[in-house]
Amino acid sequence: MGLHVPTLDDREWDRVWIGANIATMAAGGEPYGGMVDAALAVKGGKIAWVGAAADARATASARNVPVENCRGLWMLPGLIDCHTHLVYGGNRVEEFEKRLCGVSYEEIARAGGGIQSTVNATRAADAESLLASATGRAKRLMAEGVTTIEVKSGYGLELDTERRLLEVARELGLRLPVSIRTTYLGLHALPQEFRTDRAEFVARASGPWLESLAAAGLVDAVDAFCENIAFTLAETEQFLRAAQKLGLRAHVHAGQLTDMGGAELAAKYHALSADHLEYLSAGGAAALAAAGTVAVLSPGAYFTLRQTTPPPVALLRQAGVAMAVATDCNPGSSPCTSLLLALNMGCTLFGLTPAEALSGATRHAAQALGIEADAGTLEVGKRADFALYDIDRPAELCYNLGANPCVGVVRSGIARADAGAVLHGR
Ligand code: NIG
Ligand code: FE
Repeated sequence: MGLHVPTLDDREWDRVWIGANIATMAAGGEPYGGMVDAALAVKGGKIAWVGAAADARATASARNVPVENCRGLWMLPGLIDCHTHLVYGGNRVEEFEKRLCGVSYEEIARAGGGIQSTVNATRAADAESLLASATGRAKRLMAEGVTTIEVKSGYGLELDTERRLLEVARELGLRLPVSIRTTYLGLHALPQEFRTDRAEFVARASGPWLESLAAAGLVDAVDAFCENIAFTLAETEQFLRAAQKLGLRAHVHAGQLTDMGGAELAAKYHALSADHLEYLSAGGAAALAAAGTVAVLSPGAYFTLRQTTPPPVALLRQAGVAMAVATDCNPGSSPCTSLLLALNMGCTLFGLTPAEALSGATRHAAQALGIEADAGTLEVGKRADFALYDIDRPAELCYNLGANPCVGVVRSGIARADAGAVLHGR
């Protein structure tokens, strides 16, 4: 017969999505890896085949494979929000009001507000209420097609509360159809009770607390806030060295308000990512490139804090540093639960191209979490996490402000109940 019937693993398909325009977001070639009138087949929760719709139709009818008709929707890899502080107590609305009266983020932090005020609210919150508030935020991210969320601790700053935050983060991944990566943000702020003994705090966070949380299996990676209002380069290095001894990879909050050399330090420890980077030298960018450390940009924090020095995107591009974009969802500097809005701001405020921004929420975000073998692109063998959008072209995901064109989400090969109904009714 004239039709080519794919034979590679075709008997192994559980289900096939046909008639989508697929942006695989794979490296190389066309920026989105776009395929018009394409199809994606799934087996055992993984991507078994990606190709032309006509080929998939022939195979599906020959083998009785269940078919989902995508009717021209765009399919992208499930989005990855690779930097959030999703689990916390309270909010910082009063601080928002203060900032609008002219008090700076830095002044608020130095006066014992800022992160410390969220630490107080978080320590007072039980696991149930933390889970409830974080669930609402996670669902808002997921509604846009997010299938993986990184969640940092860092609002406990003592062992029990840090453990509670990481446990709640893990629980989110059990209760919701989303993959969670947990990060122990051991050095976030110096808590009040250690005001006169910084060294002791850093020693505990880098020693017994880290060891205990890692032994409990709660830590996928670590993070530290290297900044003049937070921790010095030497303190950050002490923490990263301790994590390295345990075989844990790192993220570093670096260059958000000043350049303390955090990017170079992140590179020295082969960190997965260096995040923020508004203040970054050419040497810092070169070090990140050489180490393969991803630059995670946080336009939500830049926007909220009304910063005026954007990260040096041209420098990062020129140096060949992979760039990711995240919400940095947190109650202080980025109360943002829209990754699509972060992508828009990455383009509008930082000058990313839409293709760069979308790579930053897919392929490069996966790299920033060390999960690129499983997620971030639509390629055979990866987890079948994808989202369907009612758009004319991928750049539209970055173009809109406040719209959500996501009409279906599939996670590990299974259509998510909250999003699938729209697709079937289309
Ligand atoms: O990524 N910079 C440090 N951490 C967060 C802010 C946390 C907060 O203000 O509560 C950030 O911007
Ligand atoms: Fe952050």
